[in-house]
Amino acid sequence: MATPLALQLLNTLLASEYVLLVATRAAHWNIEDASFVPFHELFDKQYNQISDLADSIAERNRQLGGVAFGSMREFIDHAFLTETSSHIGDARDFVTNLISLHETFISKATKTMEFFEETEDDDVTANQLQDWIGQHQKMLWFLKSHKFSN
Ligand SMILES: [Fe+2]
Repeated sequence: MATPLALQLLNTLLASEYVLLVATRAAHWNIEDASFVPFHELFDKQYNQISDLADSIAERNRQLGGVAFGSMREFIDHAFLTETSSHIGDARDFVTNLISLHETFISKATKTMEFFEETEDDDVTANQLQDWIGQHQKMLWFLKSHKFSN
């Protein structure tokens, strides 16, 4: 059985994953760019990957005896990531924002992984966090590898 703090940290990650999920979906919808199609498709692919990650975080929470957040209000109230308002933007606009969100997520998830390793003594959850962080690093790499010409 996990401590209340451990469960809270997982729910905070879940809430933040949902902010990133919606931001990625909004990018898929509202991008207008000369390179529309590849970014529209990349954001769609990453949306699905983030959705799977959120599912894994919620299910780990349940396995440890917690109650997974399941409301938009809880996601917004507890996320450490901040939403931006809806707008039409170009690829650079959305990619820049998503890079920032992934970097913050990775930083916080790394601290959570260390907590599970050192304080919670739960290597299984720590290893899962390592996998989730790796997936975020790969998405970040895709976003960062496009070099804008101007
Ligand atoms: Fe779509």
